[in-house]
Amino acid sequence: MGLPVTILNTPRLLLRPWTEDDADDLFAAFSDPEAMRYWDGPPKQSVEEIKQDIRGSRMAHPDTHAGWAVVLKDTGRAIGFVNYHHRDVRNCRLEIGYILSRAFWRKGLMTEAVSALLDYCFDHLQVHRVEATTDPS
Ligand SMILES: CC(C)(COP(=O)(O)OP(=O)(O)OC[C@H]1O[C@@H](n2cnc3c(N)ncnc32)[C@H](O)[C@@H]1OP(=O)(O)O)[C@@H](O)C(=O)NCCC(=O)NCCS
Repeated sequence: MGLPVTILNTPRLLLRPWTEDDADDLFAAFSDPEAMRYWDGPPKQSVEEIKQDIRGSRMAHPDTHAGWAVVLKDTGRAIGFVNYHHRDVRNCRLEIGYILSRAFWRKGLMTEAVSALLDYCFDHLQVHRVEATTDPS
């Protein structure tokens, strides 16, 4: 079973471990073909598919993976998701992923979220290297 993951705070956002209760809100992002264009999987067809991913993510050990809902403080609703994955503790490296519902694009929100995530990775997980990939296929 995974261990608790730290809550990250930014001026406009709260990044907290995602739960199945976020699935409804996150459907906007994960079902959107445009937002999912570079994701390593097809757009989700149902909220239940997202819940399955959340369950799997929460079972993962933070030595390998952790996922956060990106929550807009103004509304308390999840508008996106960030994670790290393929963490290699011995070699101090990991990969990150991120997605935001399209209604919230181009407001600097993901810059804010990823900055907090990177600070956490470098300062608290002691990683030396962070990678991010896109899947253009
Ligand atoms: C990528 C994504 C997270 C950006 O979120 P965002 O909150 O709109 O990004 P920001 O407003 O913080 O902008 C960050 C930078 O990207 C640029 N940018 C954002 N969207 C862009 C677009 N569609 N085209 C060109 N540049 C873009 C911004 O201008 C900004 O650049 P700057 O710092 O030089 O000004 C969002 O578009 C998204 O969820 N896309 C789908 C998922 C995805 O592609 N994830 C990553 C690969 S798997």
